[in-house]
Amino acid sequence: MPFAQARPARPGGLRPRGRGRRAARSLAAGAAALLLVLSTGCGAPPGQEGGGAGLADDPRFVWAVTGADRAVHEQVATLWNETHPDRQVEIYFLAPTADEQRQAMFQDLQSRAGQFDVLGLDVIWTGEFADFGYVESLEDLRPEVEGVSLDGAVDTAQWRQELFALPYSSNGAFLYYRTDLVDEPPRTWQELYETGIEAAEEEGISGFVGQGDRYEGFVVSYLELFWAAGGELFDEEQTRTTFLEGGAAATALDFMTRAHADGLFAEGYDSMVEDDARALFQAGEAVYMRNWPYAVPLLSGEAGEESAVADDFAVAPLPTFDGQGGTSALGGLNNAVSTLSDEKELAREFVLWAATDPDAQALLARNSLPPTMESVYDDAEDPNFRMLGDILAQAHARPPVPGYNSLSLAIQDGLHPAFLGQAEAEPSLEAVERAADDALRQE
Ligand code: GLC
Repeated sequence: MPFAQARPARPGGLRPRGRGRRAARSLAAGAAALLLVLSTGCGAPPGQEGGGAGLADDPRFVWAVTGADRAVHEQVATLWNETHPDRQVEIYFLAPTADEQRQAMFQDLQSRAGQFDVLGLDVIWTGEFADFGYVESLEDLRPEVEGVSLDGAVDTAQWRQELFALPYSSNGAFLYYRTDLVDEPPRTWQELYETGIEAAEEEGISGFVGQGDRYEGFVVSYLELFWAAGGELFDEEQTRTTFLEGGAAATALDFMTRAHADGLFAEGYDSMVEDDARALFQAGEAVYMRNWPYAVPLLSGEAGEESAVADDFAVAPLPTFDGQGGTSALGGLNNAVSTLSDEKELAREFVLWAATDPDAQALLARNSLPPTMESVYDDAEDPNFRMLGDILAQAHARPPVPGYNSLSLAIQDGLHPAFLGQAEAEPSLEAVERAADDALRQE
């Protein structure tokens, strides 16, 4: 079961003081070690992740893909190689974090080294790679994916109504919470703030862990709060930014600033990526966690690793500020064909297969990486998986405009110091507004 249910929430509010704390602490060291060796997730040390997976005897083309969730991508490549013995693929694992992946692929293309045939692109980079002429148009393959892949995923793979990649994996946020410490998942961020601080103080653990390091994960964390407060980055026609309208930008920043100052956020939140948060939560060190679904089998112990919270966690949609609606960012990966590839036909065939082959897409689901093929969700019986389907249907896309990276960097450079109290809120928010305007003008 990819999304096994943890024990349901018990009524009765906060758990009595102290229970289970020692057990959780004793597992912390184990979980820290886990962080270094696990192939799933996003925490491998930079510099140690690049390289081929050596799955093919006689590789004909190379697929550059994230070093997070390695095991899944390896299984997908192995399935391709078994079913296409004369057209074998080799995986090149990029770094586990989004920004480093972009940099490595960009460098390869800019220097015209062209060592990659298929590029696993985060959903935010379609416009940029298309605008630079780095990826082939796949517009003629549109009929193959429309109505087959999730609509939101197809949207992220196109730029100016033209497909430049095909969907592969999607991603949406879960709020992970401790069923032994809180009786129900919070519906609002204020409720999360209060129950998180209270339970954390009673237990001597952290209230909240998530993606707080200065990278794309922080941008996602900030934008989810911004959308939860009713904000939109641009007007509907995408002609101007609406970032500062209605006060959502300030509400989101203020929440993060208070969560840091008042100790809701764990110590070290400001340098955590996905798998750091996952390891702490797994060690029983936090009440709440914002993370992607990949953590479910690790936390439930199904992945074969020890978990201090195996029977004591569940997942819910992220809260909002008024208790209504969904706020997850739409994450995921699309596969594109490099314009420098010598094997473009093969690369196209692989990209199409990865988007539409039911067995390949089922492999993702089995490993808790959200597939993009709609029918996999329709067939799901697991309640967490169905919840994920709903979360994805309402998820907010970060606009895949060519200027997305500069907007992302402006959020990182302006708002990361601001939530830590090292920069003033207002000028930092105004700088993001200017960057959002520039991002549109780069179209
Ligand atoms: C996940 C998402 C991706 C996002 C990244 C941020 O990998 O799939 O879209 O940009 O996390 O850390």
